[in-house]
Amino acid sequence: MSSQKRQSRLTAQQKSVLIWGLVALLVCAAMNIYFYSLEGARGFYLWYNTRMLRSLILMGLIPIGLALLTFPLEKLKSKLPSRILRWVSIVASAVVTLISVGLLAFLIIAPRSGTIEPAKLNLIDPSKGIIAQATQTQASISSPQWQGATTGQDEQPLLRLSISSDAHWGVSTSNASARTEILQGIAAHNPDAFFLLGDIVENGSQSVSWNQALGDLEALIPRVPIRPVMGNHDALLGGQYAYKKIFFPKGFSSNSGSPYYYSIDAGAAQIIVLDMLWGTEQFGKRQKDWLEKTLQAADPSKPVIVLSHCYYYGSGYDDPTWGQPWYDHYQTIPAVVPLFEKYGVDLVVSGHNHYQEYLEHNGVHYAIIGAMGGISDPPPTYFSPASKWMAVATFGWLDLDVTRTELILSFRNEKGELIHEERIAFRRQ
Ligand SMILES: [Fe+2]
Repeated sequence: MSSQKRQSRLTAQQKSVLIWGLVALLVCAAMNIYFYSLEGARGFYLWYNTRMLRSLILMGLIPIGLALLTFPLEKLKSKLPSRILRWVSIVASAVVTLISVGLLAFLIIAPRSGTIEPAKLNLIDPSKGIIAQATQTQASISSPQWQGATTGQDEQPLLRLSISSDAHWGVSTSNASARTEILQGIAAHNPDAFFLLGDIVENGSQSVSWNQALGDLEALIPRVPIRPVMGNHDALLGGQYAYKKIFFPKGFSSNSGSPYYYSIDAGAAQIIVLDMLWGTEQFGKRQKDWLEKTLQAADPSKPVIVLSHCYYYGSGYDDPTWGQPWYDHYQTIPAVVPLFEKYGVDLVVSGHNHYQEYLEHNGVHYAIIGAMGGISDPPPTYFSPASKWMAVATFGWLDLDVTRTELILSFRNEKGELIHEERIAFRRQ
């Protein structure tokens, strides 16, 4: 065999090992790109920065790296080392390709499988707004009490909202009895709208958890107008598909074009829902521009209330496992709070942290109500300078009444007992 022919056969082997490595790299990249494109996935990587998640990205580089290493080994007198490394690279390529294809198939199929029916609830379609019971009464009786603004009339709630967050159906550590009592209390209160600010389920890719949540909601608050908002746990591993199927079914729409962020005309107030899961991973240029335009166009005679899963200012603790700071949010404060302050947002309500807290900073008021049954967060080791009141290891919800002049915040425990009240005069023009 001539030296030229041997050279050409070796080149073919090199090509082969490179092709195997490139295929593995491309399939791995496709899987990671798909994963990253899912709602909240980038936050998942950041806030649960495990070796496993990092290795999903790095593993695609291993086979091609091994393939390239065979090149200098070809120059050795003995061909055995390069031959062994070629085979190691090919086996690694096969393993990485199989893992990547398997994970990609899981990410596509798992969240779409299982039987989930559209919710039999009184779901609020964001584009249709909220019709307050006070407005209906006003229209039906044309009472003079609605015509002017005297001191007594100022006290009348024009809009009654209930808000809670972080129920975490589907995990044994969540408090099912507190969750049930809260829903019973909200049903008895009969608000104009109930906002469930996310982390409805522990893992959004599991249909069994969604069905548990639906079973309770349909049994306990079938008639209360409800608008569930997606949280980081709901979005886990493609959970956005179940969320949309259940809570944003066909025929629903929003003024942003997104099922995750929009504004809602609630008559006496403008409500803005933001897509904040772990932090700002979904707060790209599109959502930011939309928020700024919406705030610019807001009716100055009405209070602006922003709702989102993730919080902004908040007391909390350093995560004992990952070291992440679960307090005064280092992403949402610089990215979003300047817009709240510039355009005079009155109140921001969120969950994510499993506390009840009231805060105020630069004229914007904040409430955290992550207390619908998810396991309580540990006692805070960091207290936000913005904090005015806080309850730790409590379950409950927030009633928010909008009058002609005030926002009245009533923090309640799971029994419905008032544990804290705040009155915020809003800036009407
Ligand atoms: Fe949560």
